Amino acid sequence: MFKIGILTISDRCSKGMREDKSGEAIQGMVAGLNAEVIRYDIVPDEKEIIAQKLIEMVDVGGCHLVLTTGGTGCSPRDITPEATSMVIEKDVPGLAEAMRLASLKITPHAMLSRAIAGIRKQCLIVNLPGSPKGATECLDVIMPALPHGLSVLRGDVSDCGR
Ligand code: MTE
Repeated sequence: MFKIGILTISDRCSKGMREDKSGEAIQGMVAGLNAEVIRYDIVPDEKEIIAQKLIEMVDVGGCHLVLTTGGTGCSPRDITPEATSMVIEKDVPGLAEAMRLASLKITPHAMLSRAIAGIRKQCLIVNLPGSPKGATECLDVIMPALPHGLSVLRGDVSDCGR
């Protein structure tokens, strides 16, 4: 059973001015994995707050996967990839590359997402776009690789070539 954290990053959602439809949609999708959502939070677009929350979800919560939604674009307040970079120890660029590649077939705006993915301890952290449509489309792309990726990361699979 994998432990999952979902972090919605949005000034408006954090103030209760907007419903967190993306966080909700992600919860629905990960229900299909052998996983339990053990942490769910909403924070504003503030680098230090985002980084602290990610650290808490991994180091204290013991999450194996943290999915963030929001703050990956080019608007002045978007800072999610930079906050994620502060806390990861290794990059996993293929996940963001695959999301952008697949998303470009849906919308040219996909190239505006600066989302990244990486590893902190035994946890994979993945940035998803903020809209429910963008978040679910991108999660759909990486979903087939997640069970294997998380098993390898946790040390359950030592030789994935066999
Ligand atoms: N990717 C997919 N698959 N579908 C989308 O609708 N929206 C794009 C992009 N990626 C989108 C997508 C848009 S409009 C933006 S601005 C960027 O993600 C960043 O979104 P964010 O700032 O809400 O994180």
